[in-house]
Amino acid sequence: MPLRSVIAGCGGCLPAQVVTNEELAARHGLDTSDAWIRERSGITRRHFAGPGETAASMGAEAARRALAQAGIEAGEVDAVIVATATPDSAFPATAVHIQRLLGVTRGFGFDVSAACTGFIYALAIADSMLRTGQARCALVIGTEVYSRILDWTDRGTCVLFGDGAGAVVLRAEERADGRGILSTHLHADGRHADILHVEGTTGPLRMAGREVFKHAVTKLAAVVEEALAANGLPREAVDWLVPHQANIRIIEAMGRKLGLPPEQVVVTVDRHANTSAASVPLALAEAVEDGRIRKGDLVLLEAIGGGLTWGAALLRF
Ligand code: UT7
Repeated sequence: MPLRSVIAGCGGCLPAQVVTNEELAARHGLDTSDAWIRERSGITRRHFAGPGETAASMGAEAARRALAQAGIEAGEVDAVIVATATPDSAFPATAVHIQRLLGVTRGFGFDVSAACTGFIYALAIADSMLRTGQARCALVIGTEVYSRILDWTDRGTCVLFGDGAGAVVLRAEERADGRGILSTHLHADGRHADILHVEGTTGPLRMAGREVFKHAVTKLAAVVEEALAANGLPREAVDWLVPHQANIRIIEAMGRKLGLPPEQVVVTVDRHANTSAASVPLALAEAVEDGRIRKGDLVLLEAIGGGLTWGAALLRF
């Protein structure tokens, strides 16, 4: 029987502080409006980390929830792989801080830097390591505090991001029922590094939104086709699209491209804004928690972000 990486549990963590578009505009004296932000991005509000909330603390909480859903003890985890662009420290890695917060004392842990595509990258690495026997049970986490790297005078970026974390427990299992990660597809093209980047290591974030938008619609469309073709599956086979949550217009375009009705596309951007590497696992956790995504469903994940980096993963949940 083939060794597969199966998602055993999912979890999310959002900080308590919720800030609406109006509140954000008033707080920073921005020349913007709720109507503009809703119309151009689909965002109505976002969560921001409070004092003491960090990538590690939120990531650990999301991981606890994923472990609880999986019914797995932290002691069984032998790999922690964290995607983040906003780590607690240059080192130790956020993964190691999370290990400590969870009481994991064995195996290994490290961070992955691929901006908004980080969770797809982390999932791909974990899948390879599980299938080659380097670990048996991995926590794959996306966690971000972009509120700490934004320029509050730049209305073109500061209204678009939020904080949060999402996690999955991935377990190596011999399965004949087709469940597990079917394939992952990673891309990067450094020629476009300038259109979305963080200055130095502490920010602020800079983005040429319109240019990133154009790359997003074409590159995401290509990578989801690549994932389906690699598995010889037609578009109609997809039960759920769980896309990166940057802009409702990009998400809707991807849904149309796949011929999926809106009910089969998981959307959180309206309430979370763009949480970068946390956005895909947060959306996945929400749709699993509320019973939309069920065992055996074919789920397509995709994301694009700074690098440019982009990628997709196809899995049978
Ligand atoms: O997570 C990584 C991937 N990121 C993305 O995929 C983001 C991709 N880009 C986008 O989502 C969109 O490009 C944005 C939401 C960032 C912007 O939407 P847009 O429709 O591309 O607007 P734009 O940048 O072309 O700006 C249109 C106008 C400009 O004014 P002029 O030049 O037409 O007079 C901007 O100055 O809107 C203005 N503008 C704003 N107005 C009110 C930009 N930001 C704001 C704002 N409030 N917050």
